[in-house]
Amino acid sequence: MLDAKVSELLNNQINKEFYSAYFYLDMSNYYEEQGLSGFANWFKIQAQEERDHAMLFMTYLQNNGGKVTFDTIDAPNKEYKEFIEPLKETLNHERYVTSLIHTIYDAAYSVKDFRTMQFLDWFVKEQGEEEKNADDIIKKFTLFGSDAKGLYSLDTEMGARVYVAPTLAI
Ligand code: FEO
Repeated sequence: MLDAKVSELLNNQINKEFYSAYFYLDMSNYYEEQGLSGFANWFKIQAQEERDHAMLFMTYLQNNGGKVTFDTIDAPNKEYKEFIEPLKETLNHERYVTSLIHTIYDAAYSVKDFRTMQFLDWFVKEQGEEEKNADDIIKKFTLFGSDAKGLYSLDTEMGARVYVAPTLAI
């Protein structure tokens, strides 16, 4: 049986991951409205990954005797004034998600829940990649985004992102 605190945190993470999907879909919609369909594509795929993360937490909880309880998913409700804003928000958000994963890991560690720690290992690594991806895009945008041709090239590059299913098997 899962420890009550670990179970609660895992359940809470399902909501956080679905919120992340909302958050990134909202950004995708923003870029679509601005005519940057490549950026919109990148964030739509990002949202799909977040839904995958939510499903992984849900399945793990169910497979280990935990109860899944859905809570309200907050509205993203962001108004963006500059193209770079969602990119910066993404990095901040991923850092926040990293802290959530670490909190669950810490709770699992404190009760010697090795199975949950092993499950979370994938997410610890994934968060490193998420933060790096966000940071890389900010750097590229800062270098090239203020020039029309540079922005067009970046949009084309973002448009080439394809969905890859998570490698984690539960
Ligand atoms: Fe589910 Fe972007 O972390």
